[in-house]
Amino acid sequence: MVHLLAAWEWAQDKPELRENPDYYLGAISPDAIHIRDHDDKSHKNYVHYNNWRTPDPDAVLAYWRERFSPFDIGYGIHVLLDGQWATDFRARFPEMLLPSGKPDPKIYYNDTCVTDFRLHDESPLTPMLFELVRRGDSPDDHPMLTKREFDAWRDETLKFYDRPCPMPGPAKYLDMEYTLGFLEECQKLMTATYERRLHMNPIQQAILDRRSNRGYTDEALTEAELQALADAALASPTARNCQDWHFSFVTNRALLDEFSAAYRPLLPPGAIDASKYDVLFRAPLCVFISLPERPASNFAQVDAGIAVENLALAAMGLGLGSVILGRPKEVFNADPSWEQRFGFPEGHHFAIAIAIGHPSVTKEAHKIGEGKLHFVK
Ligand SMILES: Cc1cc2nc3c(=O)[nH]c(=O)nc-3n(C[C@H](O)[C@H](O)[C@H](O)COP(=O)(O)O)c2cc1C
Repeated sequence: MVHLLAAWEWAQDKPELRENPDYYLGAISPDAIHIRDHDDKSHKNYVHYNNWRTPDPDAVLAYWRERFSPFDIGYGIHVLLDGQWATDFRARFPEMLLPSGKPDPKIYYNDTCVTDFRLHDESPLTPMLFELVRRGDSPDDHPMLTKREFDAWRDETLKFYDRPCPMPGPAKYLDMEYTLGFLEECQKLMTATYERRLHMNPIQQAILDRRSNRGYTDEALTEAELQALADAALASPTARNCQDWHFSFVTNRALLDEFSAAYRPLLPPGAIDASKYDVLFRAPLCVFISLPERPASNFAQVDAGIAVENLALAAMGLGLGSVILGRPKEVFNADPSWEQRFGFPEGHHFAIAIAIGHPSVTKEAHKIGEGKLHFVK
């Protein structure tokens, strides 16, 4: 009942969800795991997208990026509530916890059952919300649970309150007052996560989906793709508009392979199997960004970094992959004649490179270290 009331409250300013039956069915559906596992809770956190005991809004965002129907929104709202619930009541009522840190099951199940029945019996919204749940349609391609499980759980939920509350009561800690206050509080994270999903425009998606791809197919880039990448490179901002950079777009396979071969002897012994390592990952295009010995701007290196990221994102926009490359510097240091062979302007030296092509491999997003960002408000 708590989940339905939270879903109702949260949807008040969302006309497309407010009376949407699928949304309300979604809002009770993560617990359909009980149909499969009964009292075994070992998969509960998994089907709750890692939100069963602590909030993990990033996991809900990733789910909503894959699926964003009213059912899925309801499902995500449910799990965002659960993660906050466990964290909140544990912090508020430490006296409910056993020495193991778990809530005393006698108190917990008594309180939640009594309060849930009271919410059901006393809320004027109950008949309408139950009717919406009854009319909801569940998906048959959900990654976590089957349609049969969703529908069976709906039937159980609708019948659950057709009897008196099985617990003796009264609620000692998780009473009506606490629960209604929590229902207000938990909305903020739901809204923040939902709005992050709404802000998932193509640019944001490209930024978040970019990976360092270290393997490419042989497919060459088209002239139009090369031109689009060139446009993106030259559109990069530079400090005081100095434009110290120069871009060498190299697609000559033989030349790129010769460059990679020149890198192999420079690899530190033992680190990687040199015979297999290609510093340019056999990408069909490598863009080398070079800078003059004495650039006009103190920020020329930063400008080169900005340009290389522009190229990485433009590649994403074209459905291509990329990897930014610093290692080639060693080849230029060992043999500066490569500066002429790649057509660097006189006096320019390597700053950074990027390999671009149709990726044949991908990887997970990089993990973020602790304390990398904070807001000052
Ligand atoms: C300035 C710079 C130089 C890099 N040089 C190399 C390189 O020479 N070889 C390589 O495989 N990856 C290189 N990378 C890629 C990083 O290893 C990669 O960005 C990082 O591991 C994070 O992974 P992600 O790009 O997939 O998010 C470089 C990245 C940057 C920003």
